[in-house]
Amino acid sequence: MVSFSRQVVAVASGKGGVGKSTVTTNLAVALSQQGLAVGLLDADIYGPSQQHMLGVADNTTPDQQDGEFLLPIEAYGLKTMSMGYLTTAETPMVWRGPMASSALSQLLEKTLWGDLDLLLVDMPPGTGDIQLTLSQRATLSGAVIVTTPQDIALLDARKGIEMFQKVDVPVLGLIENMASHICPACGHSEPLFGEAGGENLAAQYALPLLAQIPLSRAIREQSDQGCPIVVSDPEGKEAQHYQQAASALMASLAQQKPASGPVISMSD
Ligand SMILES: Nc1ncnc2c1ncn2[C@@H]1O[C@H](COP(=O)(O)OP(=O)(O)OP(=O)(O)O)[C@@H](O)[C@H]1O
Ligand SMILES: [Mg+2]
Ligand SMILES: [Zn+2]
Repeated sequence: MVSFSRQVVAVASGKGGVGKSTVTTNLAVALSQQGLAVGLLDADIYGPSQQHMLGVADNTTPDQQDGEFLLPIEAYGLKTMSMGYLTTAETPMVWRGPMASSALSQLLEKTLWGDLDLLLVDMPPGTGDIQLTLSQRATLSGAVIVTTPQDIALLDARKGIEMFQKVDVPVLGLIENMASHICPACGHSEPLFGEAGGENLAAQYALPLLAQIPLSRAIREQSDQGCPIVVSDPEGKEAQHYQQAASALMASLAQQKPASGPVISMSD
């Protein structure tokens, strides 16, 4: 197993709702099941969803150290941090642009991540300020772009790819989500939205297609219940796709030139 010292990888998309957060949770756990020390930062300041997806109780708040640092919350073997841990449903935070960017930098830099091989960052939708700030401040080793096979999502995925390329963050690959539908009754696979979307986009930008994750009721249900499918059904078909994505991501990272994969330094 190739080992990395704390590389930071953003999971992003141009379009909202394509399944970034679900992919990030399952991918992070899959990487951890493959023996890596993995952290997960929920960078969605406005609509954090990792707390729920990871099944972390609502009233959980991170312990502090020296009045400045935060200890990550452990979930399914991951070290996690999210704005969701610092707010409650009754007291949501209201952010304006610059505040949101600095809140995110704080979450990243003031969390005592410890020795991680890999930190996955669940990005908010879009290609705006938050995405740019993170790309510049966090010295990302790379980004993974999630898309669905539909034209509109592919168009936005293009914007995402080009944004990262503009700031010299290597795009490590694409994950096509909701690629086909797995019938809960008989298990057969049906390409609901067409088949070639992700493949064509990957070919066009010469990027690896890391995985094609099916549209599956079980994935959504497990996510809603706070127990990712790679935990609840590690031998199942769906989990195999996330495991494949994890392996392909590590292979893509290993192929990056050292110059484009700087090691981030964060306070410990
Ligand atoms: N492969 C899948 N099969 C079935 N449902 C899925 C799949 N991936 C994600 N979902 C569901 O789709 C919805 C949106 O997913 P998710 O929240 O992960 O998207 P997102 O891109 O992070 O959204 P946002 O842009 O709001 O952050 C959720 O209800 C999730 O459970
Ligand atoms: Mg999300
Ligand atoms: Zn069927």
